[in-house]
Amino acid sequence: MGNGCTILGIESSCDETSAAVVVDGRDVRSNVVSSQVALHAKYGGVVPEIAARAHIERVCPIIEEALAQARVTYADLDAIAVTVGPGLVGSLLIGVTAAKVLALARDLPVVAVDHLEAHATSAALLAPKPPWPAVALVVSGGHTSVYLVHDFLEIELLGQTADDAAGEAFDKVAAILELGYPGGPVIDRVARDGNPEAIRFPRTWLDQPHLDFSFSGLKTAVLYHVYGSGHKYGTARHLSRSELADIAASFQAALIEPLVRKTIAAARQTRVGDVAVGGGVASNSALRAALQTACDEAGLTLHLTPTEYCGDNAAMVAALGQRHLNAAHTADLRLEPRGGLIRPERRRKRK
Ligand code: KG4
Ligand code: ZN
Repeated sequence: MGNGCTILGIESSCDETSAAVVVDGRDVRSNVVSSQVALHAKYGGVVPEIAARAHIERVCPIIEEALAQARVTYADLDAIAVTVGPGLVGSLLIGVTAAKVLALARDLPVVAVDHLEAHATSAALLAPKPPWPAVALVVSGGHTSVYLVHDFLEIELLGQTADDAAGEAFDKVAAILELGYPGGPVIDRVARDGNPEAIRFPRTWLDQPHLDFSFSGLKTAVLYHVYGSGHKYGTARHLSRSELADIAASFQAALIEPLVRKTIAAARQTRVGDVAVGGGVASNSALRAALQTACDEAGLTLHLTPTEYCGDNAAMVAALGQRHLNAAHTADLRLEPRGGLIRPERRRKRK
């Protein structure tokens, strides 16, 4: 080990148990992610009670594994960074409790990290230098938001979804098409053989100057396209492979267009030249390509989070935790998880 500051990150906000060792906020020595997808797949979504129990079983072995892969021991750690929210409160509680127990046992500071701020800043991981100020698009299973990241510790909300998150729309459309759970990666794959212009699904609020999104109408449009309006039940088995591919590609295009257009508009409105993207849906290949094209055309520099850090992971938590530690933002043993979907945000005033 060098003399750098070594932080253990812990992430347990949803259905991934993750621990990571990051040195000086940039150098990822390990990032162990244990997904619970197999446990939740048959229910078509995350079951909070099952997620919390799985975190209990996994958190200690995952932490040990992260330390072993990084070739460090508890004695080498300088701090522990943990996700405090937003997320499933029962899941968050396991990570927060593990962090507090370790902090007490090893006399280490604990740093509380906001899950969405970690996604918003994850593009800085592995980048030669932080891209701030930048507009950051966060697209995940629970959230879809655009931020102005002034700096790691000053993050301002510009717009967000009024209903479904982008990842949630992927998951629900995959359920409608009977493609399995989680829906994002499979739709990404199936859509590659489809025509994105085959069906014109609605793009909500494209002509509005505000930076909010809405995806529930798109999901309903896909449902009606597959079953016809008024039919609540049925199966998608009557669809051929090429019809499925066209629906997947057309849905994806309708979801991506507002994401890209609003992100570019946010950069124009705030007069920044850099765009960052994070969250599970940021690993979508069509979204990455569309953002690259749009940023090139608009003269903006795009900073895509490496795909391994798009989904929930503790490396992004440890990296942002380092910045909080530098600013002496440490918590004490009264730290509690912050559940729920939405965090209290400061919103830029609309003109
Ligand atoms: O950030 P994340 O791991 O967890 C939350 O904080 O929610 O995001 C999970 C979401 C899921 O909805 C999943 O379907 C979606 O990310 N996802 C994708 C892709 N990979 C994961 N969506 C579209 N394309 C992908 N390749
Ligand atoms: Zn997430």
